[in-house]
Amino acid sequence: MPPGALAEHLSDLIRTAGPISIARYMAEAMGHPRLGYYMSRDPIGRSGDFITAPEVSQMFGELIGLWCATVWDVMGRPDPVILAELGPGRGTLMADALRAAARAPGFVEASRLHLVETSPPLRKKQRAALAGRHVSWHDNFDGVPDAPLLLVANELFDALPIRQFERTRGGWCERLVDTGPACHEFRLVLGAPSDAHPLPDRFRGAPLGAVCEVSPAGLALAETIGARVARDGGAALIIDYGARDSAPGETLQSVRGHKGHEVFEAPGEADICAHVDFGQLCEAARRSGAAVHGPVEQGRFLQALGIGARAAALAKGATPADADAVRSGLARLTEPAQMGSLFKVLAISHPGLIPPGFEDVP
Ligand SMILES: C[S@@+](CC[C@H](N)C(=O)[O-])C[C@H]1O[C@@H](n2cnc3c(N)ncnc32)[C@H](O)[C@@H]1O
Repeated sequence: MPPGALAEHLSDLIRTAGPISIARYMAEAMGHPRLGYYMSRDPIGRSGDFITAPEVSQMFGELIGLWCATVWDVMGRPDPVILAELGPGRGTLMADALRAAARAPGFVEASRLHLVETSPPLRKKQRAALAGRHVSWHDNFDGVPDAPLLLVANELFDALPIRQFERTRGGWCERLVDTGPACHEFRLVLGAPSDAHPLPDRFRGAPLGAVCEVSPAGLALAETIGARVARDGGAALIIDYGARDSAPGETLQSVRGHKGHEVFEAPGEADICAHVDFGQLCEAARRSGAAVHGPVEQGRFLQALGIGARAAALAKGATPADADAVRSGLARLTEPAQMGSLFKVLAISHPGLIPPGFEDVP
C-alpha cells in the first residue's frame, strides 16, 4: 500500500461529499477493506503499536476461560453452547481460556467456537493459535448463530467509531473532519447546531464548550448482545478502558509505536480509539431486556476470580526469570496505577444470573 493512500481516499471522499463525521473517519482509517489500519498488520506487541492484557500474561485468558466454564455450569450445562469472542487479536485469550476451561468436564466438548474478526492478518494468527480446533469466523456479530451464548470482548469497544458533539452558543454541533490547506491534511470543523443529535439526556445541560462522545456502533452492539443473552440465555464479558459513569469529555486518541500520535495525521498508519462510556453501554444493554453487572475495575475482578492464587501456583517451581515475569504480569493486570483501575469489566447476562466476580456488586 503506498504511504498516504488512505489519506488520499479520505480527501477524495471529503472533496466529493463535504466534511465527514469522526465516526466515518475512524471507520475508514481502521476498517477500510484494503487500506484500513487493521487490514494489513498485526499491531499488538512490543514491536507493534500497543499491548493488551492477554499478551501481558496467560493468567488473563485462563481466568476468563474458567469464568465461562462456571457460567456454563450455572446455566445448566447447555450443549451446544456458543463460545464467541469479538476482536480476538492474536487468539491468545481464547487459546489460554480453552486450555484452562478443559478442567471443567464437558465444557470444551459442548462449546462451538465463533470468532468475530475483520482483520485478515489477525485471523491468520488466530488460526495458528487455535490450530486443531474447529472455529467459525464472522465479519460481524450478526453472523454468530442463535443458541445459548458465552461471549468475550477485550479491547474491542474502544476501537469502534465514535461521534463527537460540542456545545456552542447556538446549540449542540457535531465535530466533523474536513480537509486542511495542505495535501493530506485534516482539521476539525463544526456542523450546524441541531436538537436531533443522539446525545444522552444527561449530557444536554453540559456547559458551553463541553464535548460529548457517543459510539452508535458500540451501543447497537451492546443492545444486540443483550437481546441475544436475554432471549437465548448466557452472558457476555466486555473488558475495556473507560469510565464507569458517563460524563462529558474528549477521549479520542491515537497510538503508534506505544506513543501518542496525532489522530488526524497519517490515517491508516496508527491506532485510533476512544475510552468506552460504560454508563451508555449499560443503558443500551438494559434496553434489550438483559441484566447488567458492574462495571467493576479489572484489578478487583481478577482478584475475585483468584489471580493471586494462580500467580503463586505459576511462580512456584519456576525459574527466577519466569517467576519475575509472573509477578510483573500480575502487577500490570491488577495494580491501580497500571491496568487495574482504568480497565473495567462489564457483564451482560440473561436476567436472574449472577456471574462470578459480580456477586457483591450493587
Ligand atoms: C485492540 S485489538 C484487541 C485484540 C484482543 N482482544 C486482545 O485483547 O489482544 C482489537 C481487535 O478487534 C478487531 N476489530 C477491530 N474492529 C473490529 C470490528 N469492527 N469488528 C470486529 N473486530 C474488529 C481487531 O482486528 C483486533 O482483533
